[in-house]
Amino acid sequence: MNYMGKKWIKEHKKEHYYKNAKRHGYRARSAYKLIQINKKFNIFKNVFSLLDLGCAPGSWLQVSKEFIEINLENSKKKIKPKILGVDFKKITSIEDIDFLKMDIHDEMLEEKLNEYFQEKKIDLIISDCSIKKTGNKTLDQVSQIKICDRILEIAINLLKKNGFLILKCFEGSEVPKFLKSVKEKFHKVRKFIPEATRSRSNEIFLVCQSIFF
Ligand SMILES: C[S@@+](CC[C@H](N)C(=O)[O-])C[C@H]1O[C@@H](n2cnc3c(N)ncnc32)[C@H](O)[C@@H]1O
Repeated sequence: MNYMGKKWIKEHKKEHYYKNAKRHGYRARSAYKLIQINKKFNIFKNVFSLLDLGCAPGSWLQVSKEFIEINLENSKKKIKPKILGVDFKKITSIEDIDFLKMDIHDEMLEEKLNEYFQEKKIDLIISDCSIKKTGNKTLDQVSQIKICDRILEIAINLLKKNGFLILKCFEGSEVPKFLKSVKEKFHKVRKFIPEATRSRSNEIFLVCQSIFF
């Protein structure tokens, strides 16, 4: 395919997700990344408690709420779901979803999370958290790994044994080392690039399942 053809497909894809997000009332087109991750890995199965780290403006929370509502409809148990988003940017509130305005690196975060989830382990932890990109891919992927390290630390402390952790890296030289440390903590770790990810982006999601205890 020639350059113009590729460019058209790229622009068309961008436009398609943007329009769909608007039509569906999602706050960001990244909603479709989570939908595609779930389609491939079924991460929402039996999920009633969820933590979203770096959640603003909130489209992953909107999608999570929809999947958890389906779980509730299919469940015979009377469960009160617990869905919490964390970000240092404020979000417009979403019904039945709680929000904590905090930096994920804040030392007090785990205490707050334990309080919110009443010391119970969390069914699913998702994170699309990312640094503000500088345009320097080498530097950016190094800074992003600091975020990933912190998310991994939180998940090790708070995720339930068979739960999934989803987190975002930027492809680069730091990723193999980080991947190794994730594989030491989880039974199964897979890399995934959702179709909704922009073609020029170097983002990849790690889908981590079943923590070693
Ligand atoms: C790509 S956006 C997330 C989009 C979200 N998944 C959605 O669908 O609406 C990344 C978010 O990470 C947040 N973030 C980055 N560093 C953070 C940190 N240290 N603590 C808390 N939030 C952070 C940013 O404020 C931003 O809102």
